[in-house]
Amino acid sequence: MRSKIVAGNWKMNLTFAEAETLVDDILDLFDDQDEMNCEIIICPPLPYLELLTDYEFDEQQFNVGAQNCSAYDKGAYTGEVSAKILKSIDVDYCIVGHSERRKYFGETNEVLAEKINRLIENNMSPIYCVGEVLEEREAGRHFEVVKEQLEKGLFHLDGDAIYDTIIAYEPVWAIGTGKTATPEQAQEMHAFIRSMVKERYDEATADEIRILYGGSCNAQNATELFSQPDVDGGLIGGASIKANDFVSICQQASVIGKE
Ligand code: 13P
Repeated sequence: MRSKIVAGNWKMNLTFAEAETLVDDILDLFDDQDEMNCEIIICPPLPYLELLTDYEFDEQQFNVGAQNCSAYDKGAYTGEVSAKILKSIDVDYCIVGHSERRKYFGETNEVLAEKINRLIENNMSPIYCVGEVLEEREAGRHFEVVKEQLEKGLFHLDGDAIYDTIIAYEPVWAIGTGKTATPEQAQEMHAFIRSMVKERYDEATADEIRILYGGSCNAQNATELFSQPDVDGGLIGGASIKANDFVSICQQASVIGKE
């Protein structure tokens, strides 16, 4: 049985003081809950990673992820942060290929494949994002687009490395728009992604790999999305920087995870 994951992508939000307050509020809310039966990953802006990795968590275990890393290993790449640097401060996860990076920073599937290689070399888990834009869905090309993103960005990995990877399906038209994919649309694409993993690797890998949904996932719709058989949790943007909403989403994942 795959355990659920809730990952919070804070994007480029919050000052340091606001981030501290958010973490304190989240921890206070967790204090009132039983231990969650799901994995939680928080992906803050880069300068705040150590704020999270340094926390002494009691009951609830958090994992910490970066939102991006360099495609290069080390050296004269001013402004870049390598997987090795992230790992050296106990960051174990990293989002790769978010649609905002594909769109605003021109990141191609080929560059993303290199980023994934650096993460795997440093024993980190990539959270690889795929998803179509609205025109592609309207043209009925969404499966084709996601297939290409998987084949070019991820499926070069061998059978061992793919086990450490999480896939996030984020339809671009649903990100930050309040227009969530229906549970049926999410399930259909997640089942397609899982079938692709089975075709490229094997059934056991397809059964194990976690596929998260992202795009206007919130405290109101988390349960119905996470209840879909191939939806293993969520990659949460806006709702992850609201303590009550984020903890509610984690709680919903935990309840479904126990069923
Ligand atoms: P929203 O939840 O704000 O739509 O963002 C989703 C996302 O991009 C997470 O990576």
